[in-house]
Order: sequence, then structure tokens, then C-alpha cells
Amino acid sequence: MTFTLSPVDQTEHDHDAIEHLLDLAFGLSRIAKTSYQLRLGNTAIEGLSLVMRDKALGLIGAISFWPIAVGPEMTPALLLGPLAVHPERQNMGVGRALIAEGLTRAKAKGHKLVLLVGDPPFYARFDFRQVPEGQIDLPGPFDPRRLMFIELEAGALAKAHGLALPPWRWTELSAPRATTSGWPPATAPQG
Ligand SMILES: CC(C)(COP(=O)(O)OP(=O)(O)OC[C@H]1O[C@@H](n2cnc3c(N)ncnc32)[C@H](O)[C@@H]1OP(=O)(O)O)[C@@H](O)C(=O)NCCC(=O)NCCS
Repeated sequence: MTFTLSPVDQTEHDHDAIEHLLDLAFGLSRIAKTSYQLRLGNTAIEGLSLVMRDKALGLIGAISFWPIAVGPEMTPALLLGPLAVHPERQNMGVGRALIAEGLTRAKAKGHKLVLLVGDPPFYARFDFRQVPEGQIDLPGPFDPRRLMFIELEAGALAKAHGLALPPWRWTELSAPRATTSGWPPATAPQG
């Protein structure tokens, strides 16, 4: 059976149903995952948080994309995930529809590179490939075989090297801060 409903924009009313769906799909330990660290304090890209619903179950699938910046050069990329489909609606094309619509919209918005941490056999079906080991690091443990990418513009991966973080964290790291080595500042009154 193939699913014919289309993905639509998530609304604020979907929040609780999405959390429940993610618990069903990934279990409660999902928040310990490194990809969760990339979403913490981050804001999903507007227009790329999509859901599918049906009359019987309500919410049956959800996907979102998050801004990340790779390396001190802050090469922009999107983090795909989480993607989850209700257990009673899996293998019906819901995941495929959400990924296809999400990537189409991301490309239309000018995004060039999408990364994810996920199951290679599944994502390879959508032309995601493994990031060469050591090219991109994440702020926590991960299996490098599960770090995958797709280019929405040819050559985009070559520009992404180093640690992937939410953009605001790079901005915070590069902002000048008072340190004990420079304290007190030279201009501070002495005595
Ligand atoms: C993984 C998941 C998102 C797939 O969504 P779905 O709606 O069931 O997938 P679709 O029906 O759109 O399947 C698309 C294709 O992927 C295949 N597929 C589905 N689940 C798969 C899996 N776990 N591994 C490999 N291939 C898979 C389907 O057979 C289908 O192949 P086809 O195009 O040749 O027919 C969904 O099953 C899910 O939420 N699972 C729980 C969470 C999970 O296991 N996530 C793992 C990925 S991080």
C-alpha cells in the first residue's frame, strides 16, 4: 500500500503529538543522542518542519531540519532529523514523502548541504552517502558510518570541514571574552 496524503507544514498544535511519535519511534533515550545536542537551543528552519496526518491516527509522520555551521569557517548546512513515522504507518511511503518534500523545499530555499546521523541502508535509498571519516566532527560520540550527507548544490561537502555546531555556538565561541590571563585589563585603574 502506498500513502497518498501529502506533507504539510507543522503547526504549534502538533508539538505534543510529535513528542509522542518520537518516543514511539526512538524511545525515551533519544535525547541522549549527539544529534540532539545539535538541536538543543537551536531553532528548526521555518517552512521545513513537515508532518503528515490521517483521520484514524492523527499525526503519522514528522520531519524537521536544523541550521548548523561546520568548522570555524561556519560552512552552513542543515541537519535532517528527527524523521519518524508512526509504527502503524511504516513502510507505506510516509518517510519517503517527508524526505522528498523536505529536500525539495530546502533546495528551493537555497540550502546546499544536508547532514544527518541515521541508518545507512535507509538513507542510501535517498542518495545520502557517508561523510568521509574525519572530515566532519560532532559535539559528542557518534558512529562515523552513520554520519551521512546529500548535496543540494554540487561540491557543497568539500567546503565543510571540522566540528558541526549550531551557528549561535560558533558565534559565542568566537566572541571576545574576558579571561583570567588578561585580567585586570590594561586600562583598569590600578591599586
Ligand atoms: C525509518 C522510517 C523513518 C522509514 O519511514 P517509512 O515511512 O516506514 O519508510 P517508507 O515507507 O517511506 O520507505 C521508503 C523506502 O525505504 C525502505 N525502508 C523502510 N524502512 C527501512 C529501514 N529501516 N531500513 C532500510 N530500508 C527501509 C522501504 O522499504 C522503502 O523502499 P522502496 O522505496 O524500495 O519501496 C520509519 O520506519 C521510522 O520512523 N522508524 C522508526 C525510527 C527508525 O528506525 N529510524 C531509523 C532511521 S534513523
